[in-house]
Amino acid sequence: MTLTDLNTRFGLSQQLKFVEGPGGLIFAEIDNALGTAYLCLQGAHITTFRPKDQAEPVIWLSDYAKFASGKSIRGGAPVCWPWFGAHATESGFPGHGYARTVMWEVTQSAALASGETEITLALVENEQSRAQWPHPCRVELNVVVGRSLKVGLITTNLGDTDLGIGEALHTYFQIGDIAEIQVLGLEGCEYVDKVGPVTRREQAGPITFSGEVDRVYVNSESTCVIEDRRLQRRILIAKTGARSTVVWTPWTEKADKMGDFGPDGWRRMVCVESGNALDNVVLIPAGQSHTMSVEYSAQVL
Ligand code: BG6
Repeated sequence: MTLTDLNTRFGLSQQLKFVEGPGGLIFAEIDNALGTAYLCLQGAHITTFRPKDQAEPVIWLSDYAKFASGKSIRGGAPVCWPWFGAHATESGFPGHGYARTVMWEVTQSAALASGETEITLALVENEQSRAQWPHPCRVELNVVVGRSLKVGLITTNLGDTDLGIGEALHTYFQIGDIAEIQVLGLEGCEYVDKVGPVTRREQAGPITFSGEVDRVYVNSESTCVIEDRRLQRRILIAKTGARSTVVWTPWTEKADKMGDFGPDGWRRMVCVESGNALDNVVLIPAGQSHTMSVEYSAQVL
């Protein structure tokens, strides 16, 4: 669909328009009285979100992010699907699945009576993705932008056998400084520690950061809170249908190697990802759907 077609069919005067952005990629630009967000149609990737009562975005985008066809964008809320992390058996398949690098099509948009703006997208399979995932399914992302950001990831199994999927919204949050925040809500949860030899541990108290952290908390359904004294706010991450939480900061060495964080971009972000991974991979019976939903909001501390 051309930009003109997109704007004619799904544009909403004052609230939603489609524009060509960096790398020639197409973005939905959402701006209403409550909040503002950008969403790249490649990957259905929300690149940033700011409630109007916040001076700083809630969702972080790297100043050094690369925008190119078929490449994941550093920052925002990448959609990891239909597996999380490395593929179980095929080392050549992309980490975190292919949903974040393929095109999605817009299927619906609406200006809601609440003042929020809604947009829904569906993943478009291609030859390469079908070769990696030969299972008929429908995957949709529903996004509602207002004072909070609500995101639903819906998978429908269109095949005639059960289907196991891993998934996550790999969201990067904007923070004052990684060394000064804490993440609450995971106390007492079991986690798989991916830094060094993989080990299983139990979280004692809030999470604080003084080096690389890469952990998958299993069976962790509670709301997580990022407490940020420097920005004097807390970010709330409330989820349903998502039983895993991934907490990730690359810290300096890994960020330098990755090349799209800039000199100290990693200090201004933390990933608190909501999803279903490892022990929590979801089995969707034939003909049925599974939904994971996450709501992101910010409060003054
Ligand atoms: C996290 C993983 O979810 O994503 C990390 O736990 C990984 O191991 C990170 O490094 C970033 O992944 P990517 O593929 O976006 O660079």
